[in-house]
Amino acid sequence: MSISFQWDESYCVDGGQIDEEHKKLFTLANETFSIVDPASQSDRFKQTIKGLYDYMRYHFSNEEQLMRRVAYPDFQDHVRKHNAIINRMNKCLKGTGNLAELAHGMKHCCVDWVMTHILEEDKKVGRHIRSVGGSATETGEIAASAGA
Ligand SMILES: [Fe+2]
Repeated sequence: MSISFQWDESYCVDGGQIDEEHKKLFTLANETFSIVDPASQSDRFKQTIKGLYDYMRYHFSNEEQLMRRVAYPDFQDHVRKHNAIINRMNKCLKGTGNLAELAHGMKHCCVDWVMTHILEEDKKVGRHIRSVGGSATETGEIAASAGA
């Protein structure tokens, strides 16, 4: 299940908090998928999957607060896409109990999240923030209140 998510400038959304959270998610995903044999390290694997899932939810919540704050016009559609990712993850987590299948399913969720969500949807949010003169400082403030 070897896969590695490498940060690239093309993933940049706000030059601030959202990018930092995306980088952290890459790190968590890499940690999860560096476990070559989930069955032999099941506790560690489950722990990293849970960390990734929890941080993804935390991040989506921050992103949604940011979109509200900057009156992002496609807010509802973007939230639906976040919910679809979480629902897919939930399905993987409640699946057969086979750790290899869980790893496979979660890997697909993460690849989709990076390739379609960050590169397409989140960048639209970034463009909107710039068009209304938003800044990374504002997003940092949001994250700080959400993480308290
Ligand atoms: Fe998003």
